[in-house]
Amino acid sequence: MGRYVVTGGAGFIGGRIAERLVARGDEVVVLDDLSTSSARTAPDGATLVVADLSAERTYAEGLEGSFNAVLHLGAQSSGEISHLNPARDFDVNARGTLLLLQWAEATGVGKFLHASSMAVYGPVEGPVLESAPARPRSYYGVSKVAGEAAVRFFADRGLQTTTFRMFNVYGPGQNLDNLRQGMVSIYLAYLLRGESVVVKGALDRYRDFVHVDDVASAWLAALDTEGPVDRLYNLGTGRKTTVAQLLDQLGQAFGHPAAECPMTAADGTPGDMHGSVADISLIRNELGWHPEIALERGIPEMVDWARSVADATGSERKV
Ligand SMILES: NC(=O)c1ccc[n+]([C@@H]2O[C@H](COP(=O)([O-])OP(=O)(O)OC[C@H]3O[C@@H](n4cnc5c(N)ncnc54)[C@H](O)[C@@H]3O)[C@@H](O)[C@H]2O)c1
Repeated sequence: MGRYVVTGGAGFIGGRIAERLVARGDEVVVLDDLSTSSARTAPDGATLVVADLSAERTYAEGLEGSFNAVLHLGAQSSGEISHLNPARDFDVNARGTLLLLQWAEATGVGKFLHASSMAVYGPVEGPVLESAPARPRSYYGVSKVAGEAAVRFFADRGLQTTTFRMFNVYGPGQNLDNLRQGMVSIYLAYLLRGESVVVKGALDRYRDFVHVDDVASAWLAALDTEGPVDRLYNLGTGRKTTVAQLLDQLGQAFGHPAAECPMTAADGTPGDMHGSVADISLIRNELGWHPEIALERGIPEMVDWARSVADATGSERKV
């Protein structure tokens, strides 16, 4: 049994990981400012500390006792939003990561796991390897590269670190109210409201969609596996899905014949990439992890979840 800090633990991915840690008997402190989440979405059984990870006083006052590891998922997590306020993105994702690392080192935390993103890569055709150059096209991607550099700097000083460059994570718990983050949850939100899906950008863009439960399993595997001090993994499925194929899947789950999934074309967002898909050989070989939930299963299950949430809040209208 361990004692862990999960930053962003009231959010979509951090919440799922924190839930899994609590379920197996670990002690979890969630550090989250609730900027894109709420106390309601923080997992039961975890201690919630509401604080800003980019504020120095958080480390002086907010976290008591010693911890075995930090799982760092708290971030401004939207590429689109990063273009509205790039400096804030840097404050949280780069400076906040640095402050957290300093605190981790000073208090003797052994391990540090960091949520980075496929947004660090530039445009690449086909599955991208971790060795590909980091040439981000969004301020979000740049802030994640800076966070990664800080993590590596502390790894060189002895902190055991793992950085995950996560691809498009989807699944139950994703925020259906935020129309600026998460392709699956955004499209799903339109369909649930009975509206045409606003697609910002081309239909032949492609992504690598990885289920949040598979992502949580990878984080736990890294937490539990001793290994090299400085690990960096792509975390995706290796499978390419176009926006058109995703719309087909969603349309089918809503009972529409594929071609009838209602959609409205719109201009792309700044920094959006045409294609992104992971090469996952490294994480397969080193952690023995592989994705288990294919989109054909994950999408209908997520639609069921979203419908139950909408039913509970009484917000669904017939499509
Ligand atoms: N969802 C994806 O597809 C994806 C892909 C690649 C990387 N990531 C990264 O994974 C992590 C989790 O993403 P998510 O999808 O769960 O996003 P999310 O927005 O649901 O979760 C982020 C959490 O961080 C919290 N937070 C934001 N700013 C904070 C601050 N200054 N101090 C403390 N807490 C703060 C938010 O309130 C939220 O609960 C992020 O680092 C994100 O950049 C996500």
